[in-house]
Amino acid sequence: MKILVVGGGGREHAIIKKIKENKSVEKIYALPGNGGIARDAECVPIGAKDIDGIVGFAVEKAVDYAIVAPDDPLVLGCVDALEARGIPCFGPRANAAIIEGSKAFSKDLMKKYGIPTAAYETFSDADAALSYLDTAKIPIVVKADGLALGKGAIVCMTRDEAKDAVVSMMREGKFGKSGERVVIEEYMTGPEVSVLSFTDGETIVPMVSSMDHKRAHDGDEGPNTGGMGTVAPNPYYTKEIADVCMKTIFLPTIRAMKAEGREFRGCLYFGLMLTPAGPRVVEYNCRFGDPEAQVVLPLLKTDLLTVMKAVTDGTLSDVNVEWCDGYAACVIAASDGYPTSYKSGFELKIPEDVAEHTYVAGAAIEDGVLKTHGGRVLGVTATAETLRGAIEKSYSMVDRIEFENKYTRRDIGARALAAENG
Ligand code: AMP
Ligand code: GLY
Repeated sequence: MKILVVGGGGREHAIIKKIKENKSVEKIYALPGNGGIARDAECVPIGAKDIDGIVGFAVEKAVDYAIVAPDDPLVLGCVDALEARGIPCFGPRANAAIIEGSKAFSKDLMKKYGIPTAAYETFSDADAALSYLDTAKIPIVVKADGLALGKGAIVCMTRDEAKDAVVSMMREGKFGKSGERVVIEEYMTGPEVSVLSFTDGETIVPMVSSMDHKRAHDGDEGPNTGGMGTVAPNPYYTKEIADVCMKTIFLPTIRAMKAEGREFRGCLYFGLMLTPAGPRVVEYNCRFGDPEAQVVLPLLKTDLLTVMKAVTDGTLSDVNVEWCDGYAACVIAASDGYPTSYKSGFELKIPEDVAEHTYVAGAAIEDGVLKTHGGRVLGVTATAETLRGAIEKSYSMVDRIEFENKYTRRDIGARALAAENG
């Protein structure tokens, strides 16, 4: 089989490595991939947002199956366009990807179907948003409606901060079109859990839970990033909580999407907060999380391609999706200064035994040399019987990778370990 994977980060590298385990896979194309992914797939310089380019390439190479991993092409209708040319895909169509593409859509969906989430108001007019903030309860959260690289949510501890957030989004165009409309929502508290799921629109199979580390610095300080590390499973997410989530959040969500004529097939990501009043949805993503995929997929025992094809075919209920016991930890190595400003273009040295466990996010081959290229450079995942074991193994490997300017958080998994110990 010839497989095409759209995207070029650590998540895509994790998908590709897992897909390669299937013996029927003869060829994997990554569009655009990156210099590190090039070890495992043929990388072709076609951007993930270039829908016409992607479809043209897929048709020309007669690929048998496409996996569309990032949010942008999904929201832009990449799956619709590939399907129109007869290429089966993993990923939701545009009318379902809107669950991530518009916060206003997802909040309205949750309200209509009684799915627990923070109370909210939506505004398209800056004056109305600002006067609402005059009397709203503080702290409060201001979110750009559209896609914003995971940086469109601003948690505001004061009224002035909230007003500044509205002005930057609605008047100064900080997130472009994505910020023309904003959702202002109630501030929630509690541990956060990421639950990715496979769904064919009828059946939903949650994956192992995980915990992201979004802030740049130790102790959850510093600016929000795309994610500095992950662990799985998440110790806060007990079997009892999982049962509640299935009943009050997961099933109601896929049923709601179906009832709206927006059947969701692919990976639906639930960003949850375990509040004192019970689990609530913080956000939906229409795709695998990054770097959640880098800890969840290594724990998947069942063949990934088999599960994905069942999702596409609507036969997920026939597949027994199994997980390994034990834990996984992924530590991200970034260019120092990320996400604000950083230098890249430095030679990247990954020992051969570590490369096996490395998912490359930002690297390019220049004159035959692998160099850093971007903020998040790579992630290293280790699995072990214990959480502590996985964390230690991951650090021991990431610490053997060399590049100038290398930065890692040193406390990935520390909160999870503390939670585990009660
Ligand atoms: P989002 O882009 O919606 O996933 O939000 C990014 C991060 O902002 C989340 O992971 C939370 O840490 C925080 N956040 C978002 N919404 C809320 C909320 N209603 N209450 C408290 N924190 C929130
Ligand atoms: N790690 C969060 C996300 O992928 O959106």
